[in-house]
Amino acid sequence: MRTHYCGDLSEAQVGESISVCGWVNRRRDHGGVIFVDLRDHRGLLQVVFDPDDAEMFARAETLRNEFVIRVEGKLRTRPEGTENPEMATGQVELLALALDILNAAETPPFQLDDDDVHEDNRLRYRYIDLRRPEMQERMRLRAGVTRSMRNWLDANGFLDIETPMLTRATPEGARDYLVPSRTHPGAFFALPQSPQLFKQLLMMSGMDRYYQIVRCFRDEDLRADRQPEFTQLDIETSFLDEDGIMALMEDMMQQLFRDVLGLDVELPLQRMSWAEAMERFGTDRPDLRIPLELVTISDLLQDVEFKVFSGPASDPGGRVAALRVPGGNALTRKEIDDYTDYVGRYGARGLAYIKCNDVAAGRDGLQSPILKFLPDDAISGILERTGAETGDLIFFGADKAKVVNESLGALRVRVGQDRELVEDGWRFLWVVDFPMFEFDEREQRWNALHHPFTAPSTDDPDALEANPGEALSRAYDMVLNGTELGGGSVRIHRPEMQRRVLNLLGIGDDEAEEKFGFLLTALRYGCPPHGGIAFGLDRLVMLMAGASSIRDVMAFPKTQTASDLMTQAPAAVGERQLRELSIRLRQPRGES
Ligand code: AMO
Ligand code: AMP
Repeated sequence: MRTHYCGDLSEAQVGESISVCGWVNRRRDHGGVIFVDLRDHRGLLQVVFDPDDAEMFARAETLRNEFVIRVEGKLRTRPEGTENPEMATGQVELLALALDILNAAETPPFQLDDDDVHEDNRLRYRYIDLRRPEMQERMRLRAGVTRSMRNWLDANGFLDIETPMLTRATPEGARDYLVPSRTHPGAFFALPQSPQLFKQLLMMSGMDRYYQIVRCFRDEDLRADRQPEFTQLDIETSFLDEDGIMALMEDMMQQLFRDVLGLDVELPLQRMSWAEAMERFGTDRPDLRIPLELVTISDLLQDVEFKVFSGPASDPGGRVAALRVPGGNALTRKEIDDYTDYVGRYGARGLAYIKCNDVAAGRDGLQSPILKFLPDDAISGILERTGAETGDLIFFGADKAKVVNESLGALRVRVGQDRELVEDGWRFLWVVDFPMFEFDEREQRWNALHHPFTAPSTDDPDALEANPGEALSRAYDMVLNGTELGGGSVRIHRPEMQRRVLNLLGIGDDEAEEKFGFLLTALRYGCPPHGGIAFGLDRLVMLMAGASSIRDVMAFPKTQTASDLMTQAPAAVGERQLRELSIRLRQPRGES
């Protein structure tokens, strides 16, 4: 049907007979001549219809946006002065000699060049949205990312192996998507939250190095970087420790950024302990492009009369921290109120601040509702530790450490963005030395910070049990510009340690046998030391594409409420199908 793609044509083909196919991007009638910008996968081309051929001209007049057509003609240079430098093919145009209207189109629900279309509309008519050059480019970028990954993985001895989608609940900590079994009434498959246990079993199967670009399913609260089904680059290797695995993954990332963006990532990547990340940034995925840091000032405030500060300062689980904002003195009352509301969303009960009008003048040069509660030595200590200068503002958080970290950590990012302090660049980081467990106050039990198959840094189960709160794990996260790109760990490879870790998590031997019996048995039949990682492919592509949501780099994503507006899934199913699955629904309200 065609000899060329629209977007590929240039002066090199001038004079040739050309056929192109595509969509009418725009039609303009200009004093007896019709211009059509024809769009295909590779770009736009101007097509000209002369009135000489009256029959064809009449048909060209019926063309509307998004009609699908085929044009045969002769490529020519545009007349002097009519070139379009905005268009890649702007030096040339196709003089039409034949026109096939392959399909008409109704008026599209939105214009392709409208940047302000409601996302629901884009998702409902995704096939139209995907025609936009920006989306085409993102899909190409995504394919380029997986191509580069596969090339690297293949060259480094990783085997692409598929694992089941219909399986048992996997332990990544989100809610499962369940699939009822017809042949086993009342029993359910779970869609995998990740292939975690299967990839470990593949190491026990002697596969040495595994990878899979695999869909994972998690029924959790959605955000800009979370979808109910998303894609991981999932990896596992045998006989390597964490340094070996991290070095391999850095090498892969370096090649990926070189292949896809032409950028040189400097290796080795920076590493930071979890404790340092929490202390300085309040989060385990710090955005290092933002030059603001939290500093702990608890020790300066234990004895002050201001209970808001002295309480958390004296509480071993509490924290009082300061965040200095350079030039923040200029913040208005309203801006500070907005920030106070913002940290409130993270549980903070207030947002104390000090404005530094003149630090040399000590107390007299400062302005703050809480100044009167603070003695001179506390004030000078705060100024010194934060390095505050005239013109700055200092924010304070005082609460349980978790609340302070989450609220000031989020505030740090928000203020950094608002004040345009975010530096350019790609700031990769490994976060290491995670705690093995975190205590769930509500349930009064330990949870795994990564997952229950992550090895502790000690080989001694007794030592682990003696002090679970202090134990570190052999987990690592790769962070890029404030996004957790991937996480993994060296795994437990001995049955006794696995049993004891599950026990610590409140999973007794019987329950462990019931849920993970296959894994525990496999551990007894010759399990190599192994470890791995999984990267969030959607997140990685989002960052590389400069998009602000992973929905923008997925062809058919779901909404914030986990529905598909195009296919209208999820949907009700017929009674008969339910009966086959032995499922009885309560009658919907209002029906008898
Ligand atoms: P984890 O749960 O950290 O680890 O997931 C790995 C990476 O997957 C991405 N990710 C998501 N992306 C989009 N939407 C979601 N709902 C979502 N959830 C996670 C993140 C994350 O870093 N089996 C372990 C890996 C291992 O130990 O090897 C796992 O799944 O980028
Ligand atoms: P109050 O005494 O409650 O009026 O608080 C005085 C100042 O301290 C106000 O600016 C509050 O926003 C702030 N504040 C109150 N509680 C906290 C807290 N837990 N952390 C940080 N600042 C707080």
